Amino acid sequence: MVDEKSLEELKKKALSEIKEAEDEKGLEAARVKFLGRKGELTRILKSIAQLPPELKPVIGRLANQIKKELEAALKEAQQELKKKKESRLPGVDLTLPGRPYPLGKLHPITQVMTELCEIFLRMGFSIATGPEVELDYYNFEALNIPPDHPARDMQATFYLTDKVLLRTHTSPIQIRTMEREKPPLRIIAPGKVYRCDSDVTHTPMFHQIEGLMVDRDVSFADLKGVLSVFAREIFGEETRVRFRPSYFPFTEPSVEMDISCVICGGEGCRVCGQTGWLEILGAGMVHPNVFRAVGYDPEQWVGFAFGLGVERITMLKFGIDDIRLFYENHLRFLEQF
Ligand code: PHE
Repeated sequence: MVDEKSLEELKKKALSEIKEAEDEKGLEAARVKFLGRKGELTRILKSIAQLPPELKPVIGRLANQIKKELEAALKEAQQELKKKKESRLPGVDLTLPGRPYPLGKLHPITQVMTELCEIFLRMGFSIATGPEVELDYYNFEALNIPPDHPARDMQATFYLTDKVLLRTHTSPIQIRTMEREKPPLRIIAPGKVYRCDSDVTHTPMFHQIEGLMVDRDVSFADLKGVLSVFAREIFGEETRVRFRPSYFPFTEPSVEMDISCVICGGEGCRVCGQTGWLEILGAGMVHPNVFRAVGYDPEQWVGFAFGLGVERITMLKFGIDDIRLFYENHLRFLEQF
C-alpha cells in the first residue's frame, strides 16, 4: 500500500532521473517511466480510489502535487536542453577536445652546442663571445699568422675588405678576452664561423667551440685530461682517445685528438675509413708569440687551447652523413632530434 514515505521516495527518484537525462530521448524515457499511461506515479494515482477513506485525501493531494512538480521539472529540463543545443555553433562541436599544437624544439646544433658548453662549464670554464665580422688582426695576425703566411690557406676566408673579414674560427675571441683580462683564465668561445667551403662535410657557415686555459703551471697533461673527460661525457664512458702531432700557427706543440669510432667501436668501418679512429678536434700549447701579442709574459704564463666543430660532433653523435641537412630546414629531418 502507498504511504507518504514511498511517495516522497518516488519523487526523489523521478527528479534525479529527469535531472540526469542527457538528451530529449532520455527525458522522454523518464516521463514515460513515471507519468506515462503505465507510469509509476500514474499507477498510484489510479489506485487511490481503493485506499481506505481516511487516507484518500492525504495521499491523493500529495500524489497530485508530486505529479505537478514532476511535470514542471520535465518542462524545465526540456528548456535547458533546448538552450544548450542552440548555444552550439552550427557544425561546431564544442565538446570535442582541442587540436594539439605541435611543440617546437631546439635545432640539433643548438642542442649539442648547449650540451658541449655545459660540459666545459662544469669544469670551471666560462663563456666568452665576440664579433662575427672581425678584423684580420684578431683572426690571423695576433694568432701568429702574419700577412702572406702560407698558414692562411688552411682556412678559406671571406674577406669584406683588405682588413675586415668573416671570422674563420672563434680564436679571435680568445685574443680579445686576453687583451681585456689578466691571467689566470679559463674560457670557452662558442659561435658561428665562416669559410668558403661547401660539400657533404662543409658548409660556408658552421659552429665552433674553442677553449683556452692560461695559468702559471698548465701542462700538456691538463690538456689531455680536460679533453679526455670531454670526449667521454659527450660520446660515452667507453670512448678512447688518442693524440697525434699536428700543426697550428698559434700552438706549439700542436695535436689533433681522435676518438675511437662511435659507429664500430674501433673495429674499422666505412665512417672511420677502416682506421677505427675519428678525428674530432685540434689543440695545443699556446704559442709564445700569441701571448706576446696580448701583452702576457710567455716566461710567466702557459696555456693550452683547443677548437672543435659542433656540426661534426653532432653528425657523429646522431649518425648523420650530410652536413647540409642541418640547414635545409626540412621538418621531417629536424623533428627527429
Ligand atoms: N682555430 C683552429 C681551427 O679553427 C682550431 C684550434 C684551436 C686548434 C685552438 C688548436 C688550438 O681550425
